[in-house]
Amino acid sequence: MKKTRIVVIGVGAVGSTTAYTLLLRERADELVLIDANKEKAAGDALDMNHGLPFLGRTKVWAGTYEDCRDADIVVVTAGAAQKPGESRIDLLKRNVGIFDSIIGEVTKYNSNGILLIATNPVDVMSYFSWKKSNWPASRVIGSGTVLDSARFRYLIGEQLGIDARSVHAQIVGEHGDSELPLWSLANVAGTELNFDEEEKASIFTNTRDAAYQIIEAKGATYYAIGLALDRICTAILKDEGAVLNVSTLLEGQQGLSDVYLGVPCIVDRQGVRRTMDIELSDKELEQLRQSSAKLKGLIASLEL
Ligand code: NAD
Ligand code: LAC
Repeated sequence: MKKTRIVVIGVGAVGSTTAYTLLLRERADELVLIDANKEKAAGDALDMNHGLPFLGRTKVWAGTYEDCRDADIVVVTAGAAQKPGESRIDLLKRNVGIFDSIIGEVTKYNSNGILLIATNPVDVMSYFSWKKSNWPASRVIGSGTVLDSARFRYLIGEQLGIDARSVHAQIVGEHGDSELPLWSLANVAGTELNFDEEEKASIFTNTRDAAYQIIEAKGATYYAIGLALDRICTAILKDEGAVLNVSTLLEGQQGLSDVYLGVPCIVDRQGVRRTMDIELSDKELEQLRQSSAKLKGLIASLEL
């Protein structure tokens, strides 16, 4: 039987936490770590290998781009990260330069895998990766608003005293400052949430600004995104058909096209099988259009 392989490119805070999460959950038979800083990748591989007597039989090594050849999923978390006070958009120019060579290297060795992008600004980096790879959009996926939706569900759960897993609520649009909450569809057991406007504003602001708060406190976010990336990998490898708000190419949905942003998608072994048809309120639709316009403006600034 073919072994499942996940390659993680960029093993800084996010990449090494993601790799460790994938290892703990025994998601793949083989886990390959690649970083421009070869010593860091080698050190992480050694450190993780020393944990194997407590875990399963995953093979972990620090690899090269040739190891992408047999990868089922290539997770890309390489590149610059925000410093306190910076927005995700501030990273665009630096990270496009880095991705130009990374995506070229991956596609030299692999043509059937799935690219899962986490590097920010993730929606634009995913669009860039789709264009650069020439792969079908279904196989080039951004982590989108999966993390934001998790933050949103956690905060709603805290407010209601209900397990976050029982809260059905989502953030759509840019993974960033123009994202929006879909209050019109948020529910617990099919029951609409009874928050007043002030409570809603506070929950959403804390969701949207969570990364700024964490980066100010400890320099980077990595645990929750590691779990979010693990969740997406699981949906792919187990052919789940799970509905996750990954970043995908819009082709007419909500009147929007030629842009990547976070919307609910059915994720399975093919990657994004399709987006869900959802009905938005007029206000939500207007906000989604604004978020899309912002991302399209950034895409237009790229040389593609
Ligand atoms: P980090 O600085 O800790 O790690 C980045 C790593 O990328 C480093 O190890 C560096 O050596 C490596 N790298 C740089 N250029 C490379 C290249 N050309 N090839 C291979 N490796 C290269 O940063 P981090 O905190 O891990 O964040 C990584 C990215 O993930 C950032 O863009 C950050 O904004 C983003 N992020 C996204 C989400 C999300 O929800 N999508 C969440 C958290 C962080
Ligand atoms: C996040 C990153 C920084 O934690 O995008 O949201």
